[in-house]
Amino acid sequence: AAETTVKSEPHSSTLQPPPAKYGGRHTVTLIPGDGIGPELLNHVREVFRFSCVPVDFEVVHVNSALESEDDINNAITAIRRNGVALKGNIETKHTMPPSVKSRNNLLRTSLDLFANVMHCQSLPGVQTRHKNIDIMIIRENTEGEYSSLEHESVSGVVESLKIITRNNSLRIAEYAFNLAKEQGRRRVTAVHKANIMKLGDGLFLQCCREVASGYPDITFDSMIVDNTTMQLVSRPEQFDVMVMPNLYGNVVSNVCAGLVGGPGLVPGANYGRDYAVFETATRNTGKSIAERNIANPTAMLLASCMMLDHLKLNDYASLIRNAVLTTMNENRLHTPDIGGQGTTSEVVQSVMKIIQSKGQLTAEL
Ligand SMILES: *[C@@H]1O[C@H](CO)[C@@H](O)[C@H](O)[C@H]1NC(C)=O
Ligand SMILES: *[C@@H]1O[C@H](CO)[C@@H](O)[C@H](O)[C@H]1NC(C)=O
Repeated sequence: AAETTVKSEPHSSTLQPPPAKYGGRHTVTLIPGDGIGPELLNHVREVFRFSCVPVDFEVVHVNSALESEDDINNAITAIRRNGVALKGNIETKHTMPPSVKSRNNLLRTSLDLFANVMHCQSLPGVQTRHKNIDIMIIRENTEGEYSSLEHESVSGVVESLKIITRNNSLRIAEYAFNLAKEQGRRRVTAVHKANIMKLGDGLFLQCCREVASGYPDITFDSMIVDNTTMQLVSRPEQFDVMVMPNLYGNVVSNVCAGLVGGPGLVPGANYGRDYAVFETATRNTGKSIAERNIANPTAMLLASCMMLDHLKLNDYASLIRNAVLTTMNENRLHTPDIGGQGTTSEVVQSVMKIIQSKGQLTAEL
């Protein structure tokens, strides 16, 4: 197969990883989650063990069938202790009473993981309508429409609060521009709907403008969210770095994942001042394809590589990432989500074979 190599995934240097422990090893919290999460994370563990990656996982299960928040609070405590986590998506059952909040959301807000970062890049082996996509999406991750502050004031009338604060908008804009500068990128686009939400989105946009003035070498522009989705599906190559409030980020990142081949391919990261949590970018549980050995392990393996870069284990990250991307070039190994008949374990076996062929010291297969 043709070789594909990429440099480390970008992440802002403002967050320092926890130092390694005795023997240079790191402990990371692992939350299997629901759907395809547990099987994909088992594959990550298998690849790490095979590649002798100096990471030990502390597994914390979160049962999404329970109404109590004990499980998620344990997980949050474990992340506070270890500083870093890798997780599957935890199902949010819509049938639960409104008082039961999304576990994923609780985790992000409790740990103040204000920046969600997703790198959407065309992969050479995957057939897609558009080529040459290389977009960094910076999504505000803790406020906006995700406040869970809703009430039914009169029967049949629901009010749902969208929160935008100046402080948080400034730090997410700062994060985006700082990342753009570190990565040598040229343009940051703020996505908004300030023509309708004049105060809320207006404040977000104003904060982006203020931060932009401190980065004269980076072009700043803004685009209304509806035009953004249209521009993305017609001319995605025009975008570079994008920054936006929470819900637009949710929609736009799913559009972008679709553009490069789907949810099975793109990793995501959540950063705060103190902690970092890695997961697949589109945060689906993939319940319908769970335990059938057909889920695409690429997104989760690449998320684990982002995590290794964060821990400054860059050589291990590159080794695994390059093996994953080289495997993508083999059409016969493509899983059904990208039009093939390959299985999850065949992809993982191929990744390990490539790692072994690099002369990397490996454990027993
Ligand atoms: C915003 O940040 C400033 C500076 O850190 C702080 O003094 C202020 O209390 C914050 N405002 C709010 C509303 O949290
Ligand atoms: C949508 O974005 C394109 C590309 O930036 C721009 O040329 C166009 O004027 C925008 N359209 C509207 C209606 O804002």
